[in-house]
Amino acid sequence: MVLMRRAARATSSLMRSRNLFIKKHYSATSENDTVEEMEEDFILEEKSAIINGGASGIGFEIAREFLKRGVPHLSIIDIDEERGEKAAAALTKEFGREKVLFFEADVADAVGLDDVYRKSMQFHDIPEIIVNSAGIMNDTLWDKQIYTNMTGSVVGTLLGLQYMSKSSKGYGGIIVNIGSILGIIPSSGYPLHTMTQFGICGFSKAIGCGNHIHRTGVKVFALCPGLTDTKLLLEAPAKAINDRFAQEYADEIEGSTAQKTTSVAKGLADILDKAKAGSVWVVENDGGPYEVTYPGNVLEIKREDDKEDVTSSIRN
Ligand SMILES: NC(=O)c1ccc[n+]([C@@H]2O[C@H](COP(=O)([O-])OP(=O)(O)OC[C@H]3O[C@@H](n4cnc5c(N)ncnc54)[C@H](O)[C@@H]3O)[C@@H](O)[C@H]2O)c1
Repeated sequence: MVLMRRAARATSSLMRSRNLFIKKHYSATSENDTVEEMEEDFILEEKSAIINGGASGIGFEIAREFLKRGVPHLSIIDIDEERGEKAAAALTKEFGREKVLFFEADVADAVGLDDVYRKSMQFHDIPEIIVNSAGIMNDTLWDKQIYTNMTGSVVGTLLGLQYMSKSSKGYGGIIVNIGSILGIIPSSGYPLHTMTQFGICGFSKAIGCGNHIHRTGVKVFALCPGLTDTKLLLEAPAKAINDRFAQEYADEIEGSTAQKTTSVAKGLADILDKAKAGSVWVVENDGGPYEVTYPGNVLEIKREDDKEDVTSSIRN
C-alpha cells in the first residue's frame, strides 16, 4: 500500500515535472512574458498545501475551503497540539482519509518548522501553496507577538520559497501571508500589534515585487482580514497594554461586528488566480475581497524617474 502510494506520487511528480518543463520552455520564462501569464490557471485540485496556524480560526477555515475545492493533500502546522489533532480529525471525517496531516511546530522556530515541512513533504509532496495564518494579538507580550507574527511569517515564507522555488526542486506556487486590516489602518489601542501587521504587509510586498517571481515561480501576497469571529478576537480586549489602551481599542471597535471565518476563506480561495505578486488584499464585513493600492516598488519608481529624465532631456 505504502509502495503504491509512493509510486503514484512519483508518477504524479513526473507528470508535474513534464508539465513544468513544457511551461518553462514554451510559455512563461521568455523575457517578454508577463508575471500575469505565469500566474494563470492555479488549479487547487492538483496542489499540495500547508496551512501554518491551521488548528483554529481563519487558518482552519482556509484549510476546509481548500479541501472543499479539491486540494488532495493538506498539512496543518500549529503550536497547539491538542487543537491541531482535533482539527485534522474533523477534516479527515469530512473529506476522507489520507488527505490531512497535523504537525506540531512553532512557526518562528526555523529548525522546528523546517523539520515539519520536510516531514509533510515525505507524505504530501512539495507544497504548491502555503498559507501563514499563525498569529497572536497580545500587546502585553509584545516580544512574543513580534516573534510569532513577524518572525513566523518570515520563516514560513523563506522556508517555503526554499522548497517551492523552481530554481530549486519545487513546482512554483503561491505563499499567502495573513496580515490584518490593522496592517493598513493603525490601531491606537493596539500599537504593537499594528506594527507586526504593517511588517507582514511590507515584507509580503517586498518579497513579492521585483524579479523574485521570475526566478522562483512563487507568488507571495498578503491577505488582511477585518474583525473576524475567532478566539484571537474574543480574547483581544484583555490583552491590550493597559486599561487606557484597552479603552482606546474598545472605542475603535465599538459598533463593529465580526465577520465569519468562512468569508475570509472563500475570499482567499477566490483571488488565488488573480492576486498579483506583492499585492495586499482585504476581506472585511463579510464582503468580497478588494486590493489595497500602494505606490510602486523601488525599481518601478526608478524606471518611471528614468523615463521622465529621458523625456525632459529630449524636450530640452
Ligand atoms: N480574528 C481577527 O479578527 C483577525 C483580524 C485580522 C487578522 N487576523 C489574523 O489572522 C490570523 C489567524 O488568527 P485567528 O483570528 O484565526 O486566531 P486563532 O487564535 O483562532 O488562530 C491562530 C492559530 O495560530 C496558532 N499559533 C499561535 N502561535 C503560533 C506559533 N508560534 N506557531 C504555530 N502556530 C501558532 C494558534 O495555536 C491558533 O491555532 C492571525 O495572524 C491574525 O493576526 C485575525
